[in-house]
Amino acid sequence: MSYENIEVRVEAGKVGIVTLNRPKALNALNDALMNELGAALKAFDADEAIGCMIITGSERAFAAGADIALMAKYSFVDTYKGDYITRNWESVRSIRKPVIAAVSGFALGGGCELAMMCDFIIAADNAKFGQPEIKLGVIPGAGGTQRLPRAVGKAKAMDMALTGRMMDAAEAERAGLVSRVVPYDKLMDEALGAALTIADFSQIAVMAAKESVNRAFEGTLADGVMFERRLFHALFATADQKEGMDAFLNKRKPEFRHQ
Ligand code: HXC
Repeated sequence: MSYENIEVRVEAGKVGIVTLNRPKALNALNDALMNELGAALKAFDADEAIGCMIITGSERAFAAGADIALMAKYSFVDTYKGDYITRNWESVRSIRKPVIAAVSGFALGGGCELAMMCDFIIAADNAKFGQPEIKLGVIPGAGGTQRLPRAVGKAKAMDMALTGRMMDAAEAERAGLVSRVVPYDKLMDEALGAALTIADFSQIAVMAAKESVNRAFEGTLADGVMFERRLFHALFATADQKEGMDAFLNKRKPEFRHQ
């Protein structure tokens, strides 16, 4: 399939990479781009050979937010009736295999929200995160006020949402928004290394781990622990569990067949 707003490729036969590609507008996000992103991720999710995905942008911008030129024309009735700028924005969340955000440059507004929808963020040292919507007379609309406090706590989330200031990569790592920071020229190597590691594990165990960690952000601790226990026990029904443990005991590399 050919896309206009993204580029799609596969590395090593098992990692699906989506590069956001609207360079003139610093990868500003619109419904067309988000439709393509959702379609590309869903196709990778359905492909048995793919074990992990990466979303990335350019050196200058992961994404500088929703497209302001487009939004400027909208009324409340347009956005509410058409569910514009939100309708297809959460498709990343329906992806069951892991999705890593590899962020360089600006990740602002919807760009920061998109990165936070991914399972974890690896940042280049030039990355800048922010929720500057307040400067435009609006607020984050794709989960920013909900995911940012879960990632960095109330103090920094309020600071970011109310002042619209940017957080650099070092601060984002200290705050827990990103899992690793690397020099820009190492960004894709680092993300690909993580993705290949994940892709070589049992896809069933990987999906269960993702589902269970996400559960930590819904409901109570007791419910989350019970959910984890049920998935943990369920994995003993897989061939991959037998393979993984047998390989360890026999000091050999496991060969997971995702069964
Ligand atoms: C449309 C954008 C854009 C955006 C940048 N551009 N961000 N176009 N929507 N979000 C365009 C600029 O208009 C400009 O086009 C070109 O990209 C380069 O940007 P410059 O401003 O010239 O670059 P620079 O001076 O380096 O500043 C970079 C920047 C700034 C700090 C990232 O562009 C900026 O503040 N952008 C807006 C960031 C923002 O407010 N994001 C939140 C949007 S609201 P021309 O044609 O002039 O070259 C949002 C809501 C999400 O995201 C809701 C989700 C449901």
